[in-house]
Amino acid sequence: MAILITGTPGVGKTTLSTLLSEKTGRPHIELAELVKREKLYVGYDEESQSYIVDEERVKKRLRDMLTCKEIVDTHVVSALPREKISLAIVLRLDPQVLEKRLKQRRYPPVKIKSNVESEILGYVTVDAVNLFGEERVNEIDVTGLTPEETLKLVLSIIEGVERRRPGKIDWLEKYWSLLQE
Ligand SMILES: Nc1ncnc2c1ncn2[C@@H]1O[C@H](COP(=O)(O)OP(=O)(O)OP(=O)(O)O)[C@@H](O)[C@H]1O
Ligand SMILES: [Mg+2]
Repeated sequence: MAILITGTPGVGKTTLSTLLSEKTGRPHIELAELVKREKLYVGYDEESQSYIVDEERVKKRLRDMLTCKEIVDTHVVSALPREKISLAIVLRLDPQVLEKRLKQRRYPPVKIKSNVESEILGYVTVDAVNLFGEERVNEIDVTGLTPEETLKLVLSIIEGVERRRPGKIDWLEKYWSLLQE
């Protein structure tokens, strides 16, 4: 079955998925690109400058498309067919590092704020655990890791050598104040 690489926008999903695809030969499906290419959206949100994914159509498309060994790269966990993903890896990144990256990307302030809040609260992990169940989800802190170091860790999770249970990474204590601005 396919592997999901997920996490808040900007944590490094596509960078990792590209390396993982080169290393393993598994095809890389960058969901945002598929959504754009095949117009699998219901509209465009001007404020956050992003497409609003048509989750039902994406789910159906992936059900037909995923055979077994793809790497699916997305933060939109709710658009995935549960039965096609054997392993989900959630990348977590220190919210202040994430904020800097999103500023460098010149994201609109409202989008930076909502993504940093999502990372502090661990929304993507919660979504992944709710959809796939704890056993299928691993969660890793990639703060300070190079893409190659992250790749190494992810390969060992895929091989079953490492297991990183979800729910252990907590930014709230450190970044509680950022939620109140
Ligand atoms: N391990 C890393 N160390 C430092 N910078 C990184 C690392 N991984 C990725 N980056 C940088 O962070 C930025 C975001 O990376 P990337 O595009 O892979 O994130 P993403 O999770 O796919 O984002 P999106 O959800 O918006 O597609 C890029 O500029 C990338 O070069
Ligand atoms: Mg990406």
